[in-house]
Amino acid sequence: MSDSRTLNVGLIGAGRIGSSHADLIVRAIPNARLAAIADPVPGAAERLAGTLGVEQTYTDIGQMLADPQIDAVVITAPARFHTALVEQAAEAGKAIFCEKPAGMSLAEIERVGRAVQAHEVLFRIGFNRRFADGFPQMRAAIDAGRIGTPQLLRSLTRDPGLADPSAVAPWTIFFETLIHDFDTLNFLNPGARATQVYAVADALVAPDYKDAGLLDTAVVTIRYDNGAIATAEANFSAAYGYDTRGEVFGSAGMATAGDLAASSMRYYGADGIATETVRADTQSMRSAYTGELQAFVDTALGTPVAGPGADAARDALRIAVACVESHRTGLPVALDAEETNG
Ligand SMILES: NC(=O)c1ccc[n+]([C@@H]2O[C@H](COP(=O)([O-])OP(=O)(O)OC[C@H]3O[C@@H](n4cnc5c(N)ncnc54)[C@H](O)[C@@H]3O)[C@@H](O)[C@H]2O)c1
Repeated sequence: MSDSRTLNVGLIGAGRIGSSHADLIVRAIPNARLAAIADPVPGAAERLAGTLGVEQTYTDIGQMLADPQIDAVVITAPARFHTALVEQAAEAGKAIFCEKPAGMSLAEIERVGRAVQAHEVLFRIGFNRRFADGFPQMRAAIDAGRIGTPQLLRSLTRDPGLADPSAVAPWTIFFETLIHDFDTLNFLNPGARATQVYAVADALVAPDYKDAGLLDTAVVTIRYDNGAIATAEANFSAAYGYDTRGEVFGSAGMATAGDLAASSMRYYGADGIATETVRADTQSMRSAYTGELQAFVDTALGTPVAGPGADAARDALRIAVACVESHRTGLPVALDAEETNG
């Protein structure tokens, strides 16, 4: 069992983002201990554990959850497993940090909400942009009234990597990429509820895979009940780096955030001025990933730090779900008026 100053964490899923989160827990979160790693693929947990000096590994997630030494889990398995893993971890009484999305349907996201409520466990979703440089400051400017009433909002994600288009699950652009932007827009329009969603999407980067269901480019328009009009935009192959930006324009001013410069260095030469750019989320979002994990750990240890929970997970997902319908029908989709935006 952990003492009150150290949280014993079990990682579920030793893949790309799991490896990055594991590294951060070990190296950058002083009041957390990565006590175990679980992954059903034989050898996967051991390989990661070996690089980080983690003692316990499992191929059976249930066995790790049964260990009373584990206080909390960080879920970095593929998205389709998240809901069941959250339910399992909640039942075991663990504090839960879950990568996005927490579910792949409204029914699944309701199950997540019910599980964490019924078992009274801490739940955080990996909407890291809330911790990225400039984004909490934008929200603070809104809360301070410096933007006035939000009228136009925008959020975009341009990812540099589409190495294997055949490996991209259908609707990934809405459920795993733009979901960050949907949450960012909700975050930048506090108290407002999304009422209508219209999605236009295509396979422009890898058109040969369109028939297999690939969408690699999208623009989504969202109407909110305070009148604000928002756009979320994504593309999977930005030649110049990993680009995430946000903007809120209101009656009293405007705020923007997001910068893909790798450093403040500008090179001045015969051809002009050049700036190196960040090439991966694990590079540009490193401090945001650290921030969200630190907030989770501190909150689990009894010092609450604000962060997105089950309501935020649901509010972003309902927009993603509506995008699928809008793309299928070619029409705007009205969101259920009974659902509230947290
Ligand atoms: N917040 C972010 O910016 C961000 C960035 C990247 C990925 N993600 C999210 O993290 C999740 C994982 O993405 P990834 O790119 O690391 O995937 P990945 O495929 O690289 O890794 C997934 C790992 O989970 C393991 N796994 C498979 N089934 C499992 C199960 N039932 N239980 C536990 N582990 C299982 C796999 O063996 C693999 O090691 C996705 O939901 C993705 O959207 C979030």
